[in-house]
Amino acid sequence: MAITDDRNLIGELEPVARELLERHLKVQKEWFPHDYIPYSMGRDFDKEPWTPDQSRLTGVAQMAFEVNLLTEDNLPSYHREIYDMFARRGDSAWIEWVHRWTAEEGRHAIVLRDYLIVTRAVDPVALERHRMELLSVGYDRGDKNALRGMAYVAFQELATRISHRNTGRYSQDPVADRIMARISADENLHMVFYRDMLSAAMRLAPSEAVEAIADEVLRFEMPGAGMPEFSTKSVMIAKAGIYDLRVHHDDVVWPLLRHWGFFDIENLDAEAEQKRTQVAEFLTGVDAMAKHYEEKRARREARKQVAGQR
Ligand SMILES: [Fe+2]
Ligand SMILES: [Fe+2]
Repeated sequence: MAITDDRNLIGELEPVARELLERHLKVQKEWFPHDYIPYSMGRDFDKEPWTPDQSRLTGVAQMAFEVNLLTEDNLPSYHREIYDMFARRGDSAWIEWVHRWTAEEGRHAIVLRDYLIVTRAVDPVALERHRMELLSVGYDRGDKNALRGMAYVAFQELATRISHRNTGRYSQDPVADRIMARISADENLHMVFYRDMLSAAMRLAPSEAVEAIADEVLRFEMPGAGMPEFSTKSVMIAKAGIYDLRVHHDDVVWPLLRHWGFFDIENLDAEAEQKRTQVAEFLTGVDAMAKHYEEKRARREARKQVAGQR
């Protein structure tokens, strides 16, 4: 079956959306941001203004938390995009999913902001200015059709899950770690919804689905990519090992490709076959580049150790 029209595809997948939404509602556990925040640490900012020495997070951890919060803050744009791709073309299950997903995502920014402000981990004025700047620009998916949109969100939810989880661990703050573990559990369930939706799409239109996945592997960008200074920040996040090419290759791209049986599907059309070959070559390159950076990091660590011994 050739699915060339998004409305047709989304309509065909409506029963799957219903099934996956119901499964999601069964496994998703209710949680409350306020249970995760040490409010006893809070002080009024008019009596005691923020100064950098008050932060319990430093350097890369502080910056990574801000990047993660701003990424979550951009939810109005993501809602618009997701609604446009799925809900506007679909029926009740799609609409319910998009609203439920948005409500869950909203919690992530709430808990992160409360934690960062109550513990004085970041400059509240800079944070608010950055949020205003980012949301004034918004987020635009470009010309992705529904299949590419699904592939993108599957990779993006998994990438966000891993990035949040690793940021929490890296912070070495048990309060932050617990928050990030909780958010990551949500992101995982979001990923599972889109992953399984794409599996269903692959059964309907294997060549088109393979092409959509291939396009997203070849062009993947984190949702925060539009943020000011994102490239400098993402290099720092990569150097710290929170989210680098190795993590992207091993923990995000491959687990999904394996799950979908991306390289095993037979009887694809010529274009899909060609895209699949391109993905294989691309991933070999990513793996080699990841190895190169790992060796660089090992040399950096060794130099630091030698310098420390002197
Ligand atoms: Fe989120
Ligand atoms: Fe999510």
